Amino acid sequence: MKMENETTDRPMLEAVNLSKRYDDGVLALDGVSFEVKPGEIFVMLGGNGAGKTTALNIFLNFIDPTEGEAKINGIMTHFDPLKAKELVAFVSENVMLYENFTAMQNLDFFASIGGKNVYGDKDYRDALLRVGLLEESHHKKLKNFSKGMRQKCGLAIAIVKDAPAILLDEPTSGLDPQAGHEFIKLLDSLRGEGRAILMSTHDIFRAREIADTIAILNRGKIIMQKKASEIAGRDLEDLYLQYMAGHNSEVESPAIGGV
Ligand SMILES: Nc1ncnc2c1ncn2[C@@H]1O[C@H](COP(=O)(O)OP(=O)(O)OP(=O)(O)O)[C@@H](O)[C@H]1O
Ligand SMILES: [Mg+2]
Repeated sequence: MKMENETTDRPMLEAVNLSKRYDDGVLALDGVSFEVKPGEIFVMLGGNGAGKTTALNIFLNFIDPTEGEAKINGIMTHFDPLKAKELVAFVSENVMLYENFTAMQNLDFFASIGGKNVYGDKDYRDALLRVGLLEESHHKKLKNFSKGMRQKCGLAIAIVKDAPAILLDEPTSGLDPQAGHEFIKLLDSLRGEGRAILMSTHDIFRAREIADTIAILNRGKIIMQKKASEIAGRDLEDLYLQYMAGHNSEVESPAIGGV
């Protein structure tokens, strides 16, 4: 299963000067630009309130940007949300799955709203097995799933939807070390198929382990962006603390203000 534009150099996900000021005046994102090509994993690191979820929510068209654009395969998410949504799968800490549906029913539901209603039980079963959910769990309701199982179910949806873009908000938070490791291995295999992956995390260790590119966000701005290979041999934690200390010691205008 190879993604269509894998051979091109065109970004699958692109943030162009993305800014978001919420109605109460909080400037959550401030001119953020980056791109994620097919077969790449882009990780956003940053403290609480840095703007990571806001950026993901704009890509998902849950909210509109105040300025700038979020594009999925060239499609601007706030102009053509339905087309953009067909290309994307989302896994968050509180994955939006239906609690009273079984894993199979969730896959069927999300595959059909993703425009992929040609799939059947065998495809769902294969996807669930691939993410490591054993057969006995396939017909269980999601309300009985552990957090790790939910995250895996979220990735199974991405597989069934055949989504070329996968967005994840703190996917390994709260997972035990083994579940976290398995999840990262799965992301690695999805990258190998040419999917573009954009994720947020607080976990510096996992970021270093999986990312192609790491961006540190602080108060809505990217204050550092590096290829993971450039950080090899250097301690990402030190780098993170150093950048954060540098930026937070500066006198900055407050993030809250009029539009
Ligand atoms: N719906 C909203 N209305 C107003 N302000 C908001 C809203 N959502 C987020 N914010 C504010 O925007 C800023 C960025 O929040 P965001 O949730 O994007 O950060 P984050 O990097 O995801 O943080 P965390 O690591 O805690 O999840 C914060 O100051 C937050 O309080
Ligand atoms: Mg968040």
